[in-house]
Amino acid sequence: MAKITRKIGLSLGADICWPICYEEILKRLDLNIEFEGDTLSFESSRLTIEPFSLRQSCQYEVVIDRLTHWYHTSREWIKKSIVMDDLYVFNNPWTLQSMEKHTSYSAMMRLGMSVPDTWLIPPKSYLETPDLQPTLSRYARLFDIGKVGESLGYPVFMKPYDGGAWVGVSKIDDSETLTRAYDESGTRVMHLQKAVLPFDCFVRCVGLGPQVRIVNYKPDAPLHDRYGMEENFVSAKEEKLLRDMTLVINAFFGWDFNSCEALRRDGNWNPIDFANGCPDSQVTSLHFHFPWLIKANLRWSIFCAATRRNMRLNLDWPEYFAIADSDLSFEEKLAKYVARAEERFETDRFEEFCSKHLSHLDDVADEFFGTDIAMDAVRQKVEALFPAHEIDEFTELFWQRIQNSRTTAASTHA
Ligand SMILES: Nc1ncnc2c1ncn2[C@@H]1O[C@H](COP(=O)(O)OP(=O)(O)O)[C@@H](O)[C@H]1O
Ligand SMILES: [Mg+2]
Repeated sequence: MAKITRKIGLSLGADICWPICYEEILKRLDLNIEFEGDTLSFESSRLTIEPFSLRQSCQYEVVIDRLTHWYHTSREWIKKSIVMDDLYVFNNPWTLQSMEKHTSYSAMMRLGMSVPDTWLIPPKSYLETPDLQPTLSRYARLFDIGKVGESLGYPVFMKPYDGGAWVGVSKIDDSETLTRAYDESGTRVMHLQKAVLPFDCFVRCVGLGPQVRIVNYKPDAPLHDRYGMEENFVSAKEEKLLRDMTLVINAFFGWDFNSCEALRRDGNWNPIDFANGCPDSQVTSLHFHFPWLIKANLRWSIFCAATRRNMRLNLDWPEYFAIADSDLSFEEKLAKYVARAEERFETDRFEEFCSKHLSHLDDVADEFFGTDIAMDAVRQKVEALFPAHEIDEFTELFWQRIQNSRTTAASTHA
């Protein structure tokens, strides 16, 4: 029996609070897991940015990555480590790079989800390149954007086909505003999407491996109040549907950590934004839900590192499409997709692993979230985002919400 240390790397950018909590709880767990004949302990460290040889070996079993979507040096290090050393990464860097919102809409439409009707519009203007004029003069058809708006039916949303962080998103109520918004959209390639309005519920479903948390999201509230703290705000049936849709999306694209937005109108859930491979993890947004996120991240990363989980390098989309193309009802198809997703995320094995090896995690984390180190992590994040005169007030607000979540968790356990 060998004693082995499995290393977990954190590839970080502006993150402040969650890594501190993750690292501290991992230490406090003090794991010595008997697994397949070995004794496993776990260590985390932060990846640095520096020149690397493509033949450099990789010390990590798992990397939790927060940079791939914009920092290319880290993305390429991650890719070469997967290819050369079988590194496991949340999230798959190739699908994250290539499956923007547009592909995610198309694929989930094919699976039968009720993504609102969406059009893609060629950009209003271009950066000059040598082949641009011949290409456009031969093939670009003049079009009336007002007709697209009419065929969708107002209101519509104009938003970048590869968007994120609400940049360049506008709600449009008539053809005049549409023309103006298009004129102002410049070189960005835009979607026009039928609005799901009025909606009576907006959810963000945060998935981490097979774990999903459904949060009541309030897009019009100030940033610190957008993640609602209500419980049981959807029925058990809806909760299952939302979990199922999130699992399928995440398994389909190879995203271990992703958040999916859906809007409910007339009793139907419409997914509108579900290619978010670097979900908000900050205590200043998540507050009440922050301990859940840290615990879910720890469970899934420890499971992946212990079991030396394989990255899935080739996508198995044809198998999903075969189900999609069958004569089954959407509910029946969804059940089949979910079975594939649960298999992909090894839900049963994961749950067994957690109850056998991580049964103390809830208590260790709960105790940690009452410590000065946790309080300081909250303060550090608040200091980075809020003006000086609001630091005390908001540190206290987020801290109290974390304390409420500890009480709620304790009462649910009882
Ligand atoms: N089809 C839609 N119906 C209603 N609201 C929408 C729709 N599309 C976008 N929105 C609103 O605009 C916001 C940003 O759009 P979203 O697609 O989530 O882009 P991003 O990727 O930038 O977050 C959403 O959170 C929602 O409030
Ligand atoms: Mg969004």
